[in-house]
Amino acid sequence: MDLRIVLLGPPGSGKGTQTERLVEEFGFTKISTGDLLREAVRNGTPLGKEAKGYMDAGKLVPDDLVVGLIKEKLEGVKGGVLLDGFPRSLEQAKKLEEFFHVEMAVDLDVDQEVLIKRLTERRSCRKCNAVFHLEFNPPKVPGICDKCGGELYQRSDDTEKVVRERFATYTERTAPLTEYYRQKGVLRSVDGMGPIDEVYKRIADVVREG
Ligand code: AP5
Repeated sequence: MDLRIVLLGPPGSGKGTQTERLVEEFGFTKISTGDLLREAVRNGTPLGKEAKGYMDAGKLVPDDLVVGLIKEKLEGVKGGVLLDGFPRSLEQAKKLEEFFHVEMAVDLDVDQEVLIKRLTERRSCRKCNAVFHLEFNPPKVPGICDKCGGELYQRSDDTEKVVRERFATYTERTAPLTEYYRQKGVLRSVDGMGPIDEVYKRIADVVREG
């Protein structure tokens, strides 16, 4: 499918989880700024060294660094695209418009109390970035990724203290994007509460409608 989508929603709303499924069904090219930044941190690149402090504090990495990264990744990409975790501020959204036309912004709506539990019990794969949850989506073998056999770990920004900081950053910097995309006529709000499969069905229906 050729649609160009951005996936919005607070930390833990299910963006990464649903992105994996959407890519499988619709063949989108996925670009996740969170995954790219974590990879840069792991590899100790100049970008990673600069980003780490912001990420561990639950703050946004500076716009120019992230916009540069996205621009590079989008170069030459054809067909449908799904951006997970970008844009995250009005400044990023405006810069994105200069080189990428957003046709749909899917906004996942989830209550904050639910998000804390989702995040503090999340486990992520070091190798392929697949996401699990100790209770809601457990791996078949504890500590091992079902998809690639990689080691599962807990993200350093998934402690309750940093999670609360990430919520504050989301409310201040990212939540205004909902209105921004509503005014452009491309916003689709989706109820992100309930089991993963049900949320997926809601999103997939919206995507099929185009
Ligand atoms: P990023 O990695 O993008 O983090 P986030 O937006 O805070 O989102 P998360 O990855 O925490 O959650 P998610 O919505 O993907 O939920 P998930 O599917 O994993 O960014 C990390 C950091 O990088 C930022 O804080 C910032 O510093 C930096 N950064 C990234 N992009 C940036 C940008 N554009 N500009 C500047 N800085 C940037 O699900 C969470 C858990 O819940 C999982 O365990 C999952 O199994 C479970 N779950 C999912 N759905 C359900 C469900 N329906 N029911 C029950 N459990 C569920």
